[in-house]
Parts: sequence; structure tokens; C-alpha cells
Amino acid sequence: MEHVASKAIEDHWDVEEIRNEFPLLKNTMHGKPLVFLDSAASSQKPRVVIDAISQYYSSQHANVHRGVYALSANATDLFEAAREATRAFIHAQYDHEIVFTRGTTESINLVAHSFGQKHLNQGDEVIISAMEHHSNIVPWQMACEANGAKLKIIPLLDDGTIRIEDVRDLISNRTKFISLVHISNALGTINPIQEVIDLAHHHDIPVMIDGAQAVPHLPINVVELDVDFYAFSGHKMYGPTGIGVLYGKEKWLEDLPPYQGGGEMIKKVTFEKTTYNELPFKFEAGTPNIAGTIGLKAAIDFLGDLPSTSIEQHETSLLEYGTSLLKELPGLHLIGTAPNKAGVLSFIIDGLHPYDIGTLLDHQGIAVRTGHHCTEPIMDRFGIAGTVRASLGLYNTHEELDQLASAVSKAINMLK
Ligand code: ALA
Repeated sequence: MEHVASKAIEDHWDVEEIRNEFPLLKNTMHGKPLVFLDSAASSQKPRVVIDAISQYYSSQHANVHRGVYALSANATDLFEAAREATRAFIHAQYDHEIVFTRGTTESINLVAHSFGQKHLNQGDEVIISAMEHHSNIVPWQMACEANGAKLKIIPLLDDGTIRIEDVRDLISNRTKFISLVHISNALGTINPIQEVIDLAHHHDIPVMIDGAQAVPHLPINVVELDVDFYAFSGHKMYGPTGIGVLYGKEKWLEDLPPYQGGGEMIKKVTFEKTTYNELPFKFEAGTPNIAGTIGLKAAIDFLGDLPSTSIEQHETSLLEYGTSLLKELPGLHLIGTAPNKAGVLSFIIDGLHPYDIGTLLDHQGIAVRTGHHCTEPIMDRFGIAGTVRASLGLYNTHEELDQLASAVSKAINMLK
């Protein structure tokens, strides 16, 4: 990896060097070189991540926090080193503010459930936006239903943005929580989260940010943001599936009741009374995904070797190029045209079904996602059933976008 980092630091992005680190990108699909444009669903993995997991299971595996023997102590050290790397990655203050979960979805469910149980009462309100992933809608619906609270929705404008004025108008003296996506998986919109956090704190309202799509693209500093909770997943940031993170401010994690009961999260169990473990273990019931955390640390180290400004620059350049190519195609409409946008090209084509376009792209070796992208309310807002979505990662190339545009053009000619 060292050679990759040093090349990138020279202020040019050697994408071929980077691609060489991702074994799967050498695959073919239907006999064509793979063009992988579905990183928003799940990114591919660099060799260092695959090797770290393989090495762990080959020579380092034992359960953590449980054994006095050397192998277990070493596994515990690796697990806690991953927590420290994660803390540093998002610039949190304390390791115990990092809770390992299965993914963003579980992180949000944890907060919605525990915050709801303790702080939501009849007539209270929770604010989310109209561009949330289902995983930042349904847990809040469940929490509101369980506690008699009401969900209020920040409206979505035609370009796929929200207005801070609308957030201000929705806040009332019953508002107890705001949960908002950082970057929309379906539209690419980068939300003004700092403004929302500042506004919410002015009214003493805590904020959770769903950062699943943001962490692979932008540097995150939870202390500077002063955010109360920040959730993300390993598998969208070049790490493994099944591992996620909940960052929570110490005061909130101390305040909230546990989400799940079991081993590890307890201090003392009797049939009369159980006391809970200290942070972060209070929220980590059961044997954790140890290999996942080790893979996550490898992904963080991989990203840490690349200047984040170069990741942003490369992806912005790809986004602009892809946008200019697709806009030229007859009958194609981009859905999500926010001025501040990350690497998502979501589009529809007059008279054609996204699924048919996706299938024809697949036959040309191009992997995109089609459908509602787990954001049905966005599709309803735009009056469409779904989109074709090409989403970008740090390993994509301008040539791949040429191939996408030419394959879409071919699909239009075949289907019309
Ligand atoms: N949330 C992931 C996506 O947008 C799965 O595709």
C-alpha cells in the first residue's frame, strides 16, 4: 500500500494503481470487463482488507474480553485497536464513544429504540427528512408508535435538496429528536448537516446523522460537527459487511438504556437484578463481529494512506464528467441535481423501465442498481417507480463513464 499512498500524495490520482489493490475489479461479467458502478450499495474490498480477515481466521481467532490465554488477549487487543482506529477516523474524543454494531441500520435502530424508550412521550415529535433511507424512517416510526410520538418530515425540493427554513418551521416545543441523512444514497445530495445541528442545538434538540454514504467520500469530524450520534457501515467504505459503527457522545450513551440484553453488556446478573457494563460494552451484547472490526481497521488504514482531498477531487471530477455525458442522451432525466452533491448518478429515461435498462447494462458488463434504492418516499415525491443508479467509488475511471454512457445509449436504441 505504501507505494499507492506515496503516488497519490504527489497530487495526482493514479487510479490504475488503486484499482490494482482491488482483486474483484479484474472480474469479467458476461464476458466483458466488469464496470462496477454500485459502490453506494456496497463497495469492493482492497486486498489489505481481505488479507486482514484471512489472517485473523487463519492464525489469530479467539473470543474477546473472555479468555486469560494469550490468543484471546491478542484478539482482544486487535478488537480494541480497531475501536481506537475508528475513533481516530471520525475524530471522536473517546474510544468508549464508539459502539460496534452490524451496520448503519442497527446503529439507527439502537438509538431510536433506546432514546424512544427513555425520552419519547405522548405528543412528542421526531423530525426526519423526505430523503431518508428506509433505515432512517422505519425505526423512528416504530419508536413513535411505541411511545405515542409523531414523525414530522422535512420536505424535499425538486432538485433533491432541503431548506433550513423548513427545518426551522417544523421545530416546536414538542420536538425531541432530529435524524437526518448526510448524503442521500438515491440522489447524492450532501445535506447542510452543520446548519441543522446548530439549529437543533439552539433548541436543545439532539441530532443523529446517518453517515453511511458520507464516510467513504468525505472526512468526518464528529467533535467539530458537535453531532450527538453518527452512524455508518463498514461495507460502504471498502470494509467488510456485517460491521457498523454508532458514534454517540459520552453523555448520551451514559444516559440511554441498553438496546439488547445478553453476555458482555452486563456487570452483574442475578435473578433479582442485573446491572449493566460500562461504555461501550453496555451496547455490545453477545460475541461481536471480531473479524469485521479487524477488516474495518484495515479499510480505515487503507483510506488513511490516501489523501481525502484527492478522494473528493477524483469523485467530483467523475461526477461532473458522468453528469455531462448522461445529460446529452435523449429522454434521460437525472433525479437529484443538488448543487452540493456526491458521486451518485440516478436517472430515468422516458418510456423505459429502469429494470430493463439495468438488465441491458448488465449484459454489457456494467453493474448498476435499479429500483427504489430503499427510499420509496423519494420515488413517490418524484412520481416515479424507481431509477437506474450509477454510484461512484475511488476506483472508478472516466473511461468507465464513457462505457456507461455508450451502453445506456445502446439500450435506448434497443428498447425504443
Ligand atoms: N443502501 C444501499 C443502497 O443504497 C443498500 O444501495
